[in-house]
Amino acid sequence: MPDSQRTFIMVKPDGVRRRLVGEVVKRIEDKGYDIREMRLFTMDESLAHKHYAEHVEKPFFGELVSFITSGPVVAMVVEGVDVVAGMRQLMGATNPLEATPGSIRGDLATVITENIVHGSDSPESAEREVNLFFG
Ligand code: RTP
Ligand code: MG
Repeated sequence: MPDSQRTFIMVKPDGVRRRLVGEVVKRIEDKGYDIREMRLFTMDESLAHKHYAEHVEKPFFGELVSFITSGPVVAMVVEGVDVVAGMRQLMGATNPLEATPGSIRGDLATVITENIVHGSDSPESAEREVNLFFG
């Protein structure tokens, strides 16, 4: 069995508002990954800026921060073999229109700004984000 890996996953405020936490958790568990940490809370602006630092120059940054701080999120550490790439597959493409049916975003979302779930995009991002939220 190859070594397992950890990633940072978050059900965004739209997912919590739409009562999709159970649906997202079910898909993670059905795949065979383990949830190691889980916490419901509302992100403040400072944490949102740190989390989305790579997007600070983007035109949608203001909208992104106000959305992600608009209500509670469910933050998780998820563990499994190749879980960083595997979770990106389960989530589907950033734009729900391009996300494959069968993926979380492909099945449950319609617009890019409200795409239900966040997942680290590389092992390096995963380490940074796990430490930021659970360190
Ligand atoms: P995330 O970080 O949330 O897991 O999403 P991602 O890696 O698939 O996408 P990323 O490029 O990191 O973008 C972060 C989030 O910003 C929002 N976004 N809005 N209005 C726009 O054009 C636009 N582009 C990106 C999305 O909610 C995306 O998840
Ligand atoms: Mg991203």
